[in-house]
Amino acid sequence: MAEPLVLGIETSCDETGAAVVAGNRRVLAEALLSQLDAHRPYGGVVPEIAARAHLDHLDELVRRAMSEAGIGFDGLAGVAATGGPGLIGGVMVGVMTAKAIAAVHGLPFLAINHLEGHALSVRLVEDVAFPYLLLLVSGGHCQLLIVDGVGRYRRLGTTVDDAAGEAFDKSAKLLGLGYPGGPALEAAARGGDADRFALPRPMRGRAGCDFSFSGLKTAVRHAIEALPPGPVGARDQADLAASFQAAVADVLADRTANAIAAFRREHGEGRALVVAGGVAANRAIRARLMAVAEEAGMRFVAPPPRLCTDNAAMIGWAGVERLRLGLTSGLDFAPRPRWPLDRSVA
Ligand code: KG4
Ligand code: ZN
Repeated sequence: MAEPLVLGIETSCDETGAAVVAGNRRVLAEALLSQLDAHRPYGGVVPEIAARAHLDHLDELVRRAMSEAGIGFDGLAGVAATGGPGLIGGVMVGVMTAKAIAAVHGLPFLAINHLEGHALSVRLVEDVAFPYLLLLVSGGHCQLLIVDGVGRYRRLGTTVDDAAGEAFDKSAKLLGLGYPGGPALEAAARGGDADRFALPRPMRGRAGCDFSFSGLKTAVRHAIEALPPGPVGARDQADLAASFQAAVADVLADRTANAIAAFRREHGEGRALVVAGGVAANRAIRARLMAVAEEAGMRFVAPPPRLCTDNAAMIGWAGVERLRLGLTSGLDFAPRPRWPLDRSVA
């Protein structure tokens, strides 16, 4: 039987994306448009600008992805779009477009939880069996979850204030590194002295799997205020960026170690620790988590960086996984600004 092809659409934040993904893990085509330049003057994502940009570009990106894949809409087995959580204007654009294509061509529509897109992204590149332990670290979320299967998630912990990516973005802004902060801060940290600034490790050593990052961001601000006035110099930028990144890595490692202990009590050895979401693109953090996994006798798996940050291929892939199980959505699906993966913590 031919592998089913699914069109995936992502519009929940500041990336507009369309991709055609096959059941055998092939990404046939991918068109991604980052709105970085549109938001840069404001130092962050402006929801109204994002929604308008999705509206202006999505049709063309879908057309491009379909033509690159060399198929017509009737060659698809389904149409998947991020249905939330995210900036609601953008989510509406993606969902409306996907529903229209599905309705006109008589195809199943699949509303995908953006977090599920991240959670399953690893299975687009590797054979990772359920259940696995997942650290989902992005701009909007920081959670540890047990992934029992498609649509079956149990949250072990979450952030009580900022997400890890948010802390990267805010600290980068304080350091004068611009937007988007994560990649800029990682680049600045290269060659920096991670021991120069003694920054806190919020939650480290505590029981449980929750996170907190706002105190770390405040500590970065205080460290900057203690420097000579004026723009932060390159040396200080590098050292403070390295110190901040090391602190985040320490916290993620500590909380993940607790989650591993809980996961192993249930599932024993030999399973995988998966890390996904934009912050999982960070090399220092990947290396640190790999060490934690190895120490615990777990396999470590992370998608390649282009699949960690927001993209449409992961939404198409989640569509493939849902389609296989018959988990399609009605055309009356309403976009959701909030949509927890673990329904018991809604
Ligand atoms: O998954 P994502 O693209 O969007 C959300 O769903 O939030 O994650 C974006 C976040 C941003 O906060 C960005 O600064 C962060 O991921 N990020 C990074 C890196 N690349 C992206 N953080 C640290 N190091 C990176 N290399
Ligand atoms: Zn995301």
